Amino acid sequence: MTAIIEIQGVCKAYGGVVANKEVSMEIKSGGITGLIGPNGSGKTTLFNSVVGYHPIDAGSIKFEGKEISKLQVQDIARLGLLRTFQQTRIYGLMNGVENMLISLPHRKMNLWDALKPNSKEDYEKADRLLEFVGLYEKRLLKSGALSFGQQKLLEFAMALMNEPTCLLLDEPTAGINPTLINGLIDRLKRANAEFGITLFIIEHNMRVIMNMADTIYCMAHGEMLAQGTPDEIQNDQRVIDAYLGAH
Ligand SMILES: Nc1ncnc2c1ncn2[C@@H]1O[C@H](COP(=O)(O)OP(=O)(O)OP(=O)(O)O)[C@@H](O)[C@H]1O
Ligand SMILES: [Mg+2]
Repeated sequence: MTAIIEIQGVCKAYGGVVANKEVSMEIKSGGITGLIGPNGSGKTTLFNSVVGYHPIDAGSIKFEGKEISKLQVQDIARLGLLRTFQQTRIYGLMNGVENMLISLPHRKMNLWDALKPNSKEDYEKADRLLEFVGLYEKRLLKSGALSFGQQKLLEFAMALMNEPTCLLLDEPTAGINPTLINGLIDRLKRANAEFGITLFIIEHNMRVIMNMADTIYCMAHGEMLAQGTPDEIQNDQRVIDAYLGAH
């Protein structure tokens, strides 16, 4: 197994609250890794540490063998490591295509590139990815008028616009109805299989994560509790006691 992300002994506290305590894990290159655990167990905090959203207190985070724990968000994004948010972040007054195009400078990040008019290729790429997530018909609608589920699909397409090597998704199916969830699972799997994007996914929906992930990690109280295949995790007594039993 080649690890694309290696997390070693990561600690992160907010004032007196220890959100991550000596967390270690590896994300397999080309795979789909799940991260589960009770509310407040430190999952989003770990994502924020990996993408450089905040500095960590101790430990090491490597992406493709390179230490990234001291890098800024934009530098990490430029390496091809991106994330989506638990709450969607799109501009409601812009349409789908415009949202797609403004997400591009995440990769370019050069003022001159950002000021350049978008190329025909950028427009074609935006259209192609909007088609991929099933939003082509809605692409010229103000994004604020999209349903919550459609906004999440748009956010996913915006992340794909940057051609990430690895994408971290924080609760991609939260608030999405069951029919749309199946479509989203299908697209996430295709992004992994066809575009070769390594996925690292936080999910509370057990059906979704057990169906998608090849490896699942479970956190509790800021610590890594267990790791295994979906079958192993579902039958792990520590996971059942800390999390699954409560469902
Ligand atoms: N910016 C912050 N300031 C202070 N405390 C924070 C901050 N962000 C998170 N915390 C605390 O850190 C702990 C871990 O929170 P985190 O958001 O990482 O949990 P989570 O596992 O993602 O939970 P959920 O499943 O509810 O999204 C919680 O106790 C939370 O209250
Ligand atoms: Mg969270």
